[in-house]
Amino acid sequence: MARSDHPDREENGSGSSAAYSVDGIPVVDLNILANGDADQRKEAIQHLGRACADWGFFMVINHGVPESLQGATMDACKELFSLPTEEKAGYMEAGPMDPIRVGTGFNSAVDGVRYWRNYLKMFAHPELHCPAKPTYLREIAAEYAARTRGLTLELTTAVSESLGLDGSRIAEALNLDKCLQILIGNHYPPAGPDIGAIGLPAHSDHGLFTLLFQNGVNGLQVKHGGEWLLAKPIPGSFFVIAGDQLEIVSNGRYRAVLHRALVNGEQARMSFLSLIGPCLETVVEPIPELAQEASRGAEFGGIKYREYMEHQQSNKLRENAALDIVR
Ligand code: SIN
Ligand code: FE2
Repeated sequence: MARSDHPDREENGSGSSAAYSVDGIPVVDLNILANGDADQRKEAIQHLGRACADWGFFMVINHGVPESLQGATMDACKELFSLPTEEKAGYMEAGPMDPIRVGTGFNSAVDGVRYWRNYLKMFAHPELHCPAKPTYLREIAAEYAARTRGLTLELTTAVSESLGLDGSRIAEALNLDKCLQILIGNHYPPAGPDIGAIGLPAHSDHGLFTLLFQNGVNGLQVKHGGEWLLAKPIPGSFFVIAGDQLEIVSNGRYRAVLHRALVNGEQARMSFLSLIGPCLETVVEPIPELAQEASRGAEFGGIKYREYMEHQQSNKLRENAALDIVR
């Protein structure tokens, strides 16, 4: 769908470069970033910068990824979850750095709490890894990964500019041409309060940015101003979650948002995510220009992204505790 034809453009009203949803969540219009005149673009970049600094969370509309592709990706993932266990068994023993992982958090010994979730995680870049079944998953995942990666890179360019840097500065510092991209499907079956289950506990993401859409059932909460807020999307939009690598590379000017997932008493909820992080072998540290202009200098030490991710993924998910290893 052409960006300018997207229905959200009208729905969202004015085409203003500094919009918010009815709940106050910042809304970034990619059409303005890509095609706006110089003034509109400047305003949109400032709005994006404020969203990253004040929230670490926003919605993106007119992003050019067709809703039909979002739906097809979700359906393929649903199909995978419904396959007999023996079809998935090979992926169920996988560890956090293995490229395909299927799991359930229902009885996790590590976490010691019932996470009411089935999940699929597949590395999609630099190389696409995909379960053999359903057979059509590979083609859909490849298309979906390429489109969402392009979108994240466009956003990263604008975010770099919002920090007063050259548009390519963050992509160069993190070697995003060899970025790690992980596609993640989550399925949360309905669960009443008697089960005492939660979806996912409060955490920040280990990557740079995560794009998320869901099946029409709300459940994602983000922490803003000390309060948990239920995130309600504009149809067809993506939620964008700023992760720990953005906090590190921006020297804390932008913050990784704490978020969690609730389960719904009546309906199954699904979410589908594309997480983009640096090249696994890149040492991530605050961009020197940003550290130099900060009164306290560099807020974080450097760490190879592979080590950071392994550390975050092999410990209990606890807010943004993983960042402590570079503080
Ligand atoms: C996540 O944070 O990984 C998933 C959140 C969600 O399902 O909404
Ligand atoms: Fe997350």
